Amino acid sequence: MTGKVITIDGPAGSGKSTVSKALAAKLQYLYLDTGALYRALAYKALKTNMDMNHPGELAEFCATTEVTLKNVSGKMTVWVDGEDVGEKIRTEEVGLAASAISAFAVVREKLLTLQREAGAGGGIVAEGRDMGSVVFPRADFKFYLDADLEERIRRRHDELASKSGAAERSAVSRDMKTRDAQDTNRKIAPLAAAPDAVIIDSTSLTVSEVIRKILEHLQGSFEEDKK
Ligand code: DC
Repeated sequence: MTGKVITIDGPAGSGKSTVSKALAAKLQYLYLDTGALYRALAYKALKTNMDMNHPGELAEFCATTEVTLKNVSGKMTVWVDGEDVGEKIRTEEVGLAASAISAFAVVREKLLTLQREAGAGGGIVAEGRDMGSVVFPRADFKFYLDADLEERIRRRHDELASKSGAAERSAVSRDMKTRDAQDTNRKIAPLAAAPDAVIIDSTSLTVSEVIRKILEHLQGSFEEDKK
């Protein structure tokens, strides 16, 4: 299967990063982590104490910040003003700030072209909140990954505990709920399943089971096309 655009949307903790990365590797596609772009902007905003609630400051920030995607040995890396932000954007603080900054139109517009350019040639698994609904409305395959809130909190808690040691479950729960509310209730491009997306509830599925379901779906469409 060559050159297709596959989108995977879903809330934090739904498993979409793990699944998208593994699926892209299996298909030898590019993996586009669009959350990383919002995180990259949020990272700089935090570092520079930018006041995102001040429209003039936010507009100036967007106009003067350079976000680029570079393909380093098949891996997409995000750069801000010439700096590879790498793992520095993978904190809860940056995740929450990314969720907050992503609600602004000027921010979403800034990142839209970059995302579409990355997917222009196809052969991509694009992961985010609005991939199937806004960024790639004509994607070949759209998936929406979901999981119960409690299960998503458990996964995020385990992930943080394995990365940085102890993590307060109550703090993880609070942050997850904040992020859900912000991402779902914002006016522009809120987290939502595109009407033509295949919805997969991963609450009681392993990563391999989710990938198998996706591959079955891709295979099914492929067989249909050949008829
Ligand atoms: O997927 P993530 O946790 O790395 O994303 C961080 C935040 O970025 C998320 O809470 C909302 C925002 N985001 C978005 O608004 N649209 C996307 N396509 C991807 C992420």
